[in-house]
Amino acid sequence: MPGRPSVFVSRRIPEDGLRPIEADCEATIWPDELPPPRDKLLAAVAGCDGILTLLTDQVDDELLDAAGPQLRVVSNYAVGFDNIDVPACTRRGIPVGNTPGVLTDTTADLAFALLMAATRRLPEGDRYVRAGQWRTWGPMLLLGPDVHGGTLGIVGFGRIGQALARRASGFGMTILYHDVNRLPDEVSSPLGASFVELDELFARSDFVSLHVNLTPETRHMINADSLGRMKSSAVLVNTSRGPVVDQPALYEALRDGVIAAAALDVTDPEPIPADDPLLSLDNCLVVPHIASASRATRSKMAEMAAANLLAGVRGEQIPTPVNPEVYERPTSGR
Ligand code: DGY
Repeated sequence: MPGRPSVFVSRRIPEDGLRPIEADCEATIWPDELPPPRDKLLAAVAGCDGILTLLTDQVDDELLDAAGPQLRVVSNYAVGFDNIDVPACTRRGIPVGNTPGVLTDTTADLAFALLMAATRRLPEGDRYVRAGQWRTWGPMLLLGPDVHGGTLGIVGFGRIGQALARRASGFGMTILYHDVNRLPDEVSSPLGASFVELDELFARSDFVSLHVNLTPETRHMINADSLGRMKSSAVLVNTSRGPVVDQPALYEALRDGVIAAAALDVTDPEPIPADDPLLSLDNCLVVPHIASASRATRSKMAEMAAANLLAGVRGEQIPTPVNPEVYERPTSGR
């Protein structure tokens, strides 16, 4: 690789990430607020040594071919990496980086905020006031269940799920969790969390919060059947990935009172079309995928994504690979 490495960054990220990249690389940074269209993305990555992607960019064989055999790293500016065909990268010996850890608490904060907001009907109250409908203090106005003392079911008990449990314990909640990996008691007991099977979690929880990765197994894990197993008073919170929920089934469940409310940070697709039926429902709160959107966290994510990118283009082991196996076997032709 003669001279400075060539990299493509698919959106402007915070300066803490851009500064080191621009200092060390010939960097092309996509300047628009919207992601590069596919044809522009394929053209932009051609000949690059490294690419920094967002969850809106699909990284697959087509893109890797377009980049060329010199590509040394894909650094994703997110903890999730379902936009990346990781096996395709691994087959080519390309490490894929993500940004784990730094967004755990910020994401758990938003999950709890959504739970509170949907349960205590904050968006409805705000709309009511702005519409000039607030005429007096009303004994029956906008009633909802209590959050404190309720039962919270956490589906996916990794870093973010556990951080949510810490918040819930301050509200005196009973905490149930389900995960494909049952945690050792030394981890779950201090959090006051009990492992239960998924059906039991759905049946017992007042609040169900989703914290799973999107995989073929978790796609549509919330569907008409699972919604039907929940309490009619249940509130569903999703800060994981939109396709974990079968959205038409959720719409019907909310419309028909199968569950009480939902609060979504993520939708399928993103953005959710303005005429999606979900948006016609008062008991559905939707925000635009902002769970990690604190200034401090987005800056830390930028630093981590830059560190992965720069290590990768230098041929060093990247700090947070999702496919560390690329370092375990010799790669051919690179
Ligand atoms: C992630 O990191 O995966 C979030 O969805 C965006 O911060």
